[in-house]
Amino acid sequence: PTPTRPGTGGLTFTPVAPNKVDALTIPDGYKSSVVVRWGDPVLSDAPAFDFDNQSADAQNKQFGYNCDFVTVFPMGTDRALLWVNHEYTDENLMFRGYTGGAAATVEQIKIGLAAHGGSIVEITRAGGTGQWELLTGGRRRYNRRITAQTPMKFTGPAAGHDLLKTAADPEGRTPVGMLNNCAGGTTPWGTVLTAEENFDQYFVNGDKVPDAQKPYISRYTITNGTPASSRRFDRVEERFDLAKHPKEANRFGWIVEIDPFDPESTPVKRTALGRFKHEAATTTLAEDGRLVVYMGDDSRFEYIYKFVSKERFITGNEAHNRTLLDEGTLYVAKFTGDSPATEIDGTGKLPADGGFDGSGQWIPLVSGTTSHVPGMSAAEVLVYTRTAADKAGATKMDRPEDMERNPITGGVYVALTNNTNRTAAQADEANPRSSNKHGHVLEIVEAGDDAGRTTFSWSLPLVCGDPKDPATYFAGYDKTKVSPISCPDNVTFDRDGNLWISTDGNALGTNDGLFVMPVRGAERGHLRQFLTVPVGAETCGPLVTSDQLSVFVAVQHPGETDGATPDNPGSRWPDGDQPRPSVAVVWHAQGKKIGS
Ligand code: FEO
Ligand code: CA
Ligand code: CA
Ligand code: CA
Repeated sequence: PTPTRPGTGGLTFTPVAPNKVDALTIPDGYKSSVVVRWGDPVLSDAPAFDFDNQSADAQNKQFGYNCDFVTVFPMGTDRALLWVNHEYTDENLMFRGYTGGAAATVEQIKIGLAAHGGSIVEITRAGGTGQWELLTGGRRRYNRRITAQTPMKFTGPAAGHDLLKTAADPEGRTPVGMLNNCAGGTTPWGTVLTAEENFDQYFVNGDKVPDAQKPYISRYTITNGTPASSRRFDRVEERFDLAKHPKEANRFGWIVEIDPFDPESTPVKRTALGRFKHEAATTTLAEDGRLVVYMGDDSRFEYIYKFVSKERFITGNEAHNRTLLDEGTLYVAKFTGDSPATEIDGTGKLPADGGFDGSGQWIPLVSGTTSHVPGMSAAEVLVYTRTAADKAGATKMDRPEDMERNPITGGVYVALTNNTNRTAAQADEANPRSSNKHGHVLEIVEAGDDAGRTTFSWSLPLVCGDPKDPATYFAGYDKTKVSPISCPDNVTFDRDGNLWISTDGNALGTNDGLFVMPVRGAERGHLRQFLTVPVGAETCGPLVTSDQLSVFVAVQHPGETDGATPDNPGSRWPDGDQPRPSVAVVWHAQGKKIGS
């Protein structure tokens, strides 16, 4: 093991400088490789990827597009299952001459449906090194593709409710497929929780639903009409036409649980966790053993949620534990600043007490089949959760994305990506900047450090941007020694409790990347850039393995730049050819701990 310098969290690497290079750029002394690319074989009978001869049949067996949340389930020392979300598709980069909408071929639309969802692949490494690779050939019994067409089921209080019934599923219990799976999490019993985010973009004729449903359609920003640029899934599957099947939209926007070790299992949409543009589903245990799930809703002015199960987690009782996500209380967060409102002027200037901080409460929305929101039933709260949270007076945040709990301190961290629509009058201490281009990071400390409690204190350890910009804050650390950061998106912790932050949409004009920052001791706020991703890409994943020898990142949408096409992509990563969203792994060349 690498000696740990006191106070540095063991982080001694030389930061990567901001850049616009079309490469995965890593610190000196490190190596990287691509683990799995869009189109790589997942199922044993998958054909080799052929960019100019794609088919839906092939895509259904190959690694999907736009990899996002990544997690690893160890199987002994040198084998593991890798779960990866496939958030969405970039047809303009996937197909030559693609013009979209009515002009897309049926096969292209079907490829799009198959390229969504998630993948489970077996990975392997040689002798305990940090270099993991895709296992090919031989028996890969767990490998699986989940797509927008995989049969699923609803459980929890809203399962079987009228709001979820359609012509194809009159019982309201068997949804088909998952869409726009962005961040995620895992459960203590070894399953994946994957979060359906921007499901609104897959539907047409949102203006033709019954009048009573219209406010909820607009609250989830489902567009009217049939924009020519949309994927037009409705041309292949009528359910995406809301004029014909208005409630189909209610069947997306959930947390989906998938058991990676049971390839025959049916993915489960857990209705007790509410419906919004879900991000993350980070689990932890309350002091009394109840299961807690932290979740964000990633749109401007949306909310932060948590679910607390009714029953307790019981070690070893898997059948019982697998019911915990079906009954409990769904809460939404309200943040109150401790500085005078007059000191929060939208400029990001620190208030006189030296911190953006305060107290907060978790407001209950629904417990099992009991609604806490006047005028809404429990099922309505779960299906139209955004409306319920509006009525509860929750705090409108700057795009809450990923959330993680620090394994050392118990603090809960939230990436708030940005919100350029916030005005100075709308600034509050938890969202202190107007036209917030660069985002911030929020730390929640639950009362008594108990995730089951309903009050907390909070602060902003990081207000992002160029450190030369006075409207930035790096937990009071010397700003001449930190890396610039913009648009924090996904977060994770290493076993030492260092916070790793990936970015999406760097508004400082350079490529997105991955950063790390200690959150305690003298080094709190000492943010350093660990890697940058290729042109047009967003950094997703990230995951530092429990042995701290590897960091996985999902390089999502390389080459996604204005007007990009296969003949003129913004990136040619990873192979110098067509850009392919891929999961990469980074390790220290001498086998040292990540961050050394
Ligand atoms: Fe899919 Fe919130 O990023
Ligand atoms: Ca304050
Ligand atoms: Ca994201
Ligand atoms: Ca995460």
